[in-house]
Amino acid sequence: MARATGMTGKTGAEAEDLRFGHGFLTDIWHVAALSSELKPGAPIRREILGEPLLLARPREGTRDGGLLALRDICPHRAAPLSAGRLVAEPDGATSVECPYHGWRFGADGRCRAIPSLTPGQSVETGRISAAAFPVAERQGLVFVWIPGPGQTRPEPLPELPVFPGLTTRGRRIVESAIFESHMDHAVVGLMDPAHGPYVHRQWWWRPAGSAHAKSKAFGPVEAGFSMLPHRPSSNSLAYRLLGGAPRTEIVFRLPGLRYEHVRVGARQLVSLTCLTPISERRTRVVQILWSDHPVFALARPLVRAAARRFLAQDAAMVTLQNINLPHDPGFIWIDDADRQARWYQALKREWAASRREGRPFVNPVAPTTLSWTS
Ligand code: FES
Ligand SMILES: [Fe+2]
Repeated sequence: MARATGMTGKTGAEAEDLRFGHGFLTDIWHVAALSSELKPGAPIRREILGEPLLLARPREGTRDGGLLALRDICPHRAAPLSAGRLVAEPDGATSVECPYHGWRFGADGRCRAIPSLTPGQSVETGRISAAAFPVAERQGLVFVWIPGPGQTRPEPLPELPVFPGLTTRGRRIVESAIFESHMDHAVVGLMDPAHGPYVHRQWWWRPAGSAHAKSKAFGPVEAGFSMLPHRPSSNSLAYRLLGGAPRTEIVFRLPGLRYEHVRVGARQLVSLTCLTPISERRTRVVQILWSDHPVFALARPLVRAAARRFLAQDAAMVTLQNINLPHDPGFIWIDDADRQARWYQALKREWAASRREGRPFVNPVAPTTLSWTS
């Protein structure tokens, strides 16, 4: 059995922090919002990894086109900066103006002005700041980098994840849900091959009695693993509608991104699930579907309803599971159905260890074929 390796140098306290169902994976890009949610000049508030964040896009025509991501707590008296407005400084830079006393903070978090001061008064505004986080966007997604304790902004910033085929052109289906669960339970619930016949039992997906043994080849990719390109399950009615000979690849990568890329001839269908921890007990799940396949255009309302249904079923399962989590139960991970869940845990530990030790990440997943019945 391929055991995860490369998890050296953990102290007891650090290992405890990332125990399954506890803590957050830091020092990595997390999906914070959709690009379309950030309207120019209109800040929003998001909680990510327990941090309240302001996210904002400067108004068009201002000097800096980049996004702002600041801790959404004014250092003066804790008003949420996201309830304030964006203002242009005399030099053309964009600041956030606190709604309470009008203190202004730049994109680097530094205080730019305290309006109540009179000409003779001085406060060293440059020494006051709200924490600023690295923020970037690609393929319609806004990512924020949350450093771990004692870690600083990496220079240069690591590349954002790339999802081949995902485009902001055309109409996408976007569904989101809040799972009342720790990120870890939400992630392993979504990648779990054995829950389908139970949690998603419905005639149009996997008809009852159609479960059969299957084998899929897996291999390591970047900060995750791939179910290598294969024909989708023969018992999926939804896939059969696509016609032709679809090939699908399913990639999981840290911190919680699952990407399914189906090709049918020259057409493609992509499904991206982004999980972001809100707090220790809540997880935001965003599901994006896009395709240039004619069946997708026709079946859009059905596809949307199906996506909503799937999310609701998974959310209901973790809510149910949550009933017992306060009793601090143990978990059993069996081969091969739970191997992906174990890879996820090994990937997390290795990510944390590599960041802590300042060395390159070594993917602990070995190429393997996994078999299960579903
Ligand atoms: S609380 Fe923000 S300026 Fe006073
Ligand atoms: Fe599911």
